[in-house]
Amino acid sequence: MFGRSMAAAAMVCALAMPGTAAAQGSLNVYCSAQVEWCQAVANAFQRETGIRVAMTQKGSGEVLAQIRAEAQNPRGDIWFGGTGDPHLQAAEDNLSAEYRSPNLDQLHPWAQKQAADSRYRTVGIYAGALGFGYNTELIARRNLPAPACWADLLKPGYRNEIQMANPNSSGTAYVMIATLVQLMGEEPAFEFLKGLHRNINAYPRSGTGPIKAVARGETAVSISFVHDAVTERQAGFPVGNATPCEGTGYEIGSMSIIRGTRNERNARRFYDWALTVEAQRIGAETKQFQLPSNRNAPIPEGAPRFENIKLIEYDFAKYGQSAERRRLIERWDREVNALPR
Ligand code: G6P
Repeated sequence: MFGRSMAAAAMVCALAMPGTAAAQGSLNVYCSAQVEWCQAVANAFQRETGIRVAMTQKGSGEVLAQIRAEAQNPRGDIWFGGTGDPHLQAAEDNLSAEYRSPNLDQLHPWAQKQAADSRYRTVGIYAGALGFGYNTELIARRNLPAPACWADLLKPGYRNEIQMANPNSSGTAYVMIATLVQLMGEEPAFEFLKGLHRNINAYPRSGTGPIKAVARGETAVSISFVHDAVTERQAGFPVGNATPCEGTGYEIGSMSIIRGTRNERNARRFYDWALTVEAQRIGAETKQFQLPSNRNAPIPEGAPRFENIKLIEYDFAKYGQSAERRRLIERWDREVNALPR
């Protein structure tokens, strides 16, 4: 519903700009970053090229499912943003197209590695670390400590106070599960997730659902990318954030051209453009606080810096594997989500 209305909004924009647009053709962008960023990127590219852009925003897991369902007759041309693991899975499952942008050498090594790991079927466009968000007023009122460590989240005082997203639809939630497995080992990680389940009040569809619920005061604590907590705080909400004392994982937000697109030329043009400094500034302009992948793109003021966070060496190649991602999510559904709370 929402996705369709966003696409419709972008089309209306296009119709309001007659002339060049029709001549340049169109581009259908599936976008898994925050909708404000998606919309601004679509508008800027359309303005610059005259290519008519239709944009649909959906979670990383949802876009992966959609491009798989549409594989015989692709309707999307390019997938912008979202956590890297499902992009790697799309690459392995032959759902995305190989492309080596001439702009690759402008990128940080971690973004180029994402491209090399996928045999050039995806590329890093931003990075961000996983952590906690909390509502500072709510925790004070309920006399709860601010969470500092993964272990804190199991405390009985947080009963019904925590949200994380559902890993079937949300790449953020999958990064969390993969992080815990890497940090603790798989069996202890699932024991942890079962214990955490008792303190969870909802598993929203979207990765930003939990932090938006924190901002609105609907839940005390969320498991979120810390850059999303900064966005809410800068919008004026009483939101604090922390990264876990034991260490945490991170995402390489990625971009892929959908295999079989009828608009390959325009998709490549968008891809090259999205790697430029100019395009990557749009993140900060729309109050997004990830680290941009272009080495010369300025880091947004207020962005959580990796040098201040205890990061694990997230094994993207392993946890982006199709079978591994499917297995871990199925296990979570069976052993955690199915439990009563
Ligand atoms: C937010 C974050 C992005 C992240 C995305 C994943 O938009 O700002 O950094 O890539 O969520 O969304 P998902 O719904 O798949 O968890």
